[in-house]
Amino acid sequence: MKTKLVSPTEENIKKACALIANGEVVGVPTETVYGLAADARNGDAVKKIFNAKGRPQDNPLIVHISSLKMLDDVVGSVPYDARILAKHFWPGPLTIIMPKGKCISNVTSAGLDSVGVRMPSNEIARKIIEMSNIPFAAPSANISGKPSPTTAEEVFEDMYGKIPLIINGGMCETGVESTVVSCLEQTPIILRPGVITREMMQEVLHKRVDVAKAVIEGVGKDEKILSPGMKYKHYSPNAKIILVKGKFENYKNFVESKASAGVYAMCFDEEKEFLNLPSISYGKKDDPKSQAHKLFDVLRTLDKLNAKLVYVRCPSPEGVGLAVYNRLIRSAGFSVIQV
Ligand code: TXA
Ligand code: MG
Repeated sequence: MKTKLVSPTEENIKKACALIANGEVVGVPTETVYGLAADARNGDAVKKIFNAKGRPQDNPLIVHISSLKMLDDVVGSVPYDARILAKHFWPGPLTIIMPKGKCISNVTSAGLDSVGVRMPSNEIARKIIEMSNIPFAAPSANISGKPSPTTAEEVFEDMYGKIPLIINGGMCETGVESTVVSCLEQTPIILRPGVITREMMQEVLHKRVDVAKAVIEGVGKDEKILSPGMKYKHYSPNAKIILVKGKFENYKNFVESKASAGVYAMCFDEEKEFLNLPSISYGKKDDPKSQAHKLFDVLRTLDKLNAKLVYVRCPSPEGVGLAVYNRLIRSAGFSVIQV
């Protein structure tokens, strides 16, 4: 199959809608990361997403909508907390797990009786949903296990020959995937952190929101898995990633002692000039949003630089930083050292 990478003109957006309506898969920008979109109601179309990514069949996809009217079609019911969260944070990077509606294919929900739904704020994504009037299922547009793509060129690298069309919407604003929160139980629980934080949700709900243990730790052998995505290796470039906790002086001494071909330091912007080995920075030290924005792009750049071993300065896991920490700890396969 030939893969076209095109600009978001009215005509190209119409083409994307026609392809999705015909059961094909299209690469689309969202405010978080690029997604691979197909009609969430059409099981055969959604199977093509799983094939293109090489994604395990038991990992459900998120359904993207453009209006609250569409929400009522894709879910069985809207829990009270879900309605409040939607009112405050949609359109935007928040996915809410709710009881699944009949029209959603079991392939999309991977056989679960729940479904994750979000209303993206990205203009292009919204236009495609509105014009086609189709709720689309879309996982991140990477080969399964790789860092999520934040540019159309990165989607092209991973999906060349596998999908017919990619709409180029420039670099994604947020850079990490949406927050995933389950509203199936009395106490909402965060299954994947993002830029909509626990604190922001607690403030509008006036109640506690939990964070699943697996967000910062690996899933234990006998533990109940709340979200299938938790158990898979994720966000990994070819290089081995190791997270390093500790003061900058100690980090500097440590990484400089490790310097050799293929070894990189991944630090904060302010620190790069003080390191005497090849290094790459992923945002400002006290600005987790800037870290989230650059993180996946930097992980992919390391592959292009042929990095073999990367020592990453550990971010603070507070607020939006939890999302950055969660992605990094997974890309490191939970390898953390203290210096
Ligand atoms: O920002 C995003 O959410 C991006 C863009 C494209 O919208 N999408 C995305 O999708 O990150 P994906 O498939 O890469 O991640 C979806 C995550 C997975 O970890 C999956 O296990 C979890 O959400 N998930 C989806 N439906 C679920 C459900 N019903 N119950 C529990 N977890 C669910
Ligand atoms: Mg993903």
